[in-house]
Amino acid sequence: KKARSGAECHTLPVDLKPQAWSDGAMNRLDQLATLLRFPSISAQKEHAQDVSDCADWLVDKLSGMGLEAAAHKTRLHPIVMARSPREEGKPTVLIYGHYDVQPVDPVELWESDPFEPEVRDGKIYARGATDNKGQLFAHILGVEELLRQNGGHLPVNVIFLLEGEEEVGSGSLSQFIKDHRDELACDVIVVSDTGMAAPDTPTFSYGLRGLAGAEIIVKGPSADLHSGVFGGAVANPIAALAEIITSFHDEDGRVAVRGFYDGVEPIATWERSMWATVPGMSNEELAKLTGVETVVTESGFTGAECIFARPTLEINGIGGGYQGEGSKTIIPSHAFAKISCRLVPGQQPEKIETLLEEHVKSHVPRGVTVEFKRGHGGNAYVCDPNSEFGLAAQQALEEAFGRKPVLVREGGSIPIIEEMKRVLGADALMLGMCLPDARIHSPNENFPVDLFSKGIDMSQILLRRLGQIKH
Ligand code: BES
Ligand code: MN
Repeated sequence: KKARSGAECHTLPVDLKPQAWSDGAMNRLDQLATLLRFPSISAQKEHAQDVSDCADWLVDKLSGMGLEAAAHKTRLHPIVMARSPREEGKPTVLIYGHYDVQPVDPVELWESDPFEPEVRDGKIYARGATDNKGQLFAHILGVEELLRQNGGHLPVNVIFLLEGEEEVGSGSLSQFIKDHRDELACDVIVVSDTGMAAPDTPTFSYGLRGLAGAEIIVKGPSADLHSGVFGGAVANPIAALAEIITSFHDEDGRVAVRGFYDGVEPIATWERSMWATVPGMSNEELAKLTGVETVVTESGFTGAECIFARPTLEINGIGGGYQGEGSKTIIPSHAFAKISCRLVPGQQPEKIETLLEEHVKSHVPRGVTVEFKRGHGGNAYVCDPNSEFGLAAQQALEEAFGRKPVLVREGGSIPIIEEMKRVLGADALMLGMCLPDARIHSPNENFPVDLFSKGIDMSQILLRRLGQIKH
């Protein structure tokens, strides 16, 4: 099957439509399916037109609801901005989301076409189903429903800010928020792009980890060498890279880069006790969920604590030498590794990259040279979960899901959130619906249909509650 563009096919095939659903619910799911059909992969140049088509579709949808909407051209992918007519005395809520998606490979591991949404076992399968089209579209439909119920009025002033570059570092949005800070002025930001600790567990994230990345290239002989003709006299770049990699951690699972933990804020006592009971996040449950024999953490911390609030250094990829069939007796000319660090409040990505570079440069084995390439990053973010807005978010989650939410800090990163806090001065309420088995960034990404529908309810409840806050 070939991925189709969103314009061609507007409804799910009849055999995928559960009989029990009302026309209204079906219609919403069909609209989501249309949004999911755009292969809006921001990382791949050949999809630039698809990303742009997806932005145009969103603009049509938002204009059709009566909002003033436009796609703003950037150096890379468009930014969709839409707003309700401003009404005095109402707080302004900026709803952020991203309509770009991750690449689909390895595509052969998908059970259905990543861009031909399919409903199986109550879940809609497609790239972007959870991250982030399903979640952002729940907010769009929530606002549409409020407009319909209240004769075109909303309990708050709404600004939608939907970007097409989140998965590649939000380069354009970073400049855009500085250039449009007056238009984007708001009292609070709402985002559904973070995780739920476990199924049926409403989750309020009051923090995000930051990110710093780099690439290490180890260079040895000027070309691959015959390992018999030269082996024994020339250093092996893969072995040298392995030495560098093993120098990154000590036996206690701590990052052994000098200065790495400088400024790291300790986890508060109330957080540690609160996190000890988060459903799905015990060490045993984490091991089961991830398919490992046992969790391995920085000593002195639980798995949940390490994910929510401790910094890490990971090797994301490694390469070099012969990877093909059979054997090939060589000493490779070079080897590389891609690394990234998750950061917590108190750490700065630029400083961490400098420390990493110093560490690598002082751990170069004899007989090789090392090139260190810096990547892009972002700061960690944390806010008060019990601010007036935060409490409204907690209540909205409780009302929508019928259970008190758990309060966590998200281990993943959305670097633009901390930038928006700095530039626009507003905190972000993160009410994410990404389930642990949503398979985001992976084959068979999915989003449960009933969660989509809860998300639409939650959005309306939240905006009503935020509308009651005097500002
Ligand atoms: N939505 C994710 C962040 C996330 C991951 C939230 C898991 C909840 C659970 C976001 O789209 C993402 O993947 N961010 C990247 C960073 C970005 C700069 C590429 C990440 O966290 O790796
Ligand atoms: Mn995302």
